[in-house]
Amino acid sequence: MGIDSTVVLDDSRVPGNGRHPETTSARNALAVELRHATEGDVRAFTRWRYTPPYDVYNIDSTPEESVEYFLAPDVRCHALFDDRVLAGFCTFGHDARVPGGDYSADGLDIGLGVKPELTGRGLGIRFVAAVVQYAIATFDPPMLRVTIARGNIRALRVWKRAGFSEASIFATARDTMGSGEFAILTSMPARPKGREAPPTTRSRTTAEPESLNDS
Ligand SMILES: CC(C)(COP(=O)(O)OP(=O)(O)OC[C@H]1O[C@@H](n2cnc3c(N)ncnc32)[C@H](O)[C@@H]1OP(=O)(O)O)[C@@H](O)C(=O)NCCC(=O)NCCS
Repeated sequence: MGIDSTVVLDDSRVPGNGRHPETTSARNALAVELRHATEGDVRAFTRWRYTPPYDVYNIDSTPEESVEYFLAPDVRCHALFDDRVLAGFCTFGHDARVPGGDYSADGLDIGLGVKPELTGRGLGIRFVAAVVQYAIATFDPPMLRVTIARGNIRALRVWKRAGFSEASIFATARDTMGSGEFAILTSMPARPKGREAPPTTRSRTTAEPESLNDS
């Protein structure tokens, strides 16, 4: 699929900067970068272990299964680097959906996992903002979407702080990642004047960003 671009987040535009001065002030000068995940990245982040109740996000597949899964082109797995150190990973498309949700609207689904040691320290908005900025620059989606367990308050808070709002709530047929109820949050990317997306069909040229249609 051939995206080679690396987007560097300009922290001055992160909403809510300074709300966690003890952790963000020193880090704000540093950049969060995204690039396609490598086998080494996958082997590293699949070893990460969250403590309860977030242990439902631990990846239990074997390293080989994980490498095969996350490096599949349609998973669009990316690694996040904070000051050049692996700090998270994200996926774009079907991997970020939960069975039972309404995904009929044309949108780009985002899944994000920040390294366990970095969570709960007020850094989430930096990673979310970097992923959102990269997603818009790379895929030019008509809408961004995340699906979050209703009990995952910190995830709900951080995505809402990034401008996402609740579009729907749904129950899963059986517990998925420790939860039976999920919220779908969406956000409409701001577009520069004169570049508004057409209301229905979108024509493509070779110069346009990567397709969303295989998700
Ligand atoms: C979801 C995730 C990206 C959030 O990032 P984070 O760095 O842990 O979040 P933060 O520490 O910045 O906290 C975000 C908000 O939740 C609040 N918060 C943190 N821990 C909390 C807790 N245990 N209970 C309730 N609120 C909490 C913070 O105060 C902050 O709120 P504020 O912005 O109003 O001050 C990260 O935790 C993660 O990757 N988790 C594992 C995977 C996951 O949960 N995925 C869900 C879909 S993204």
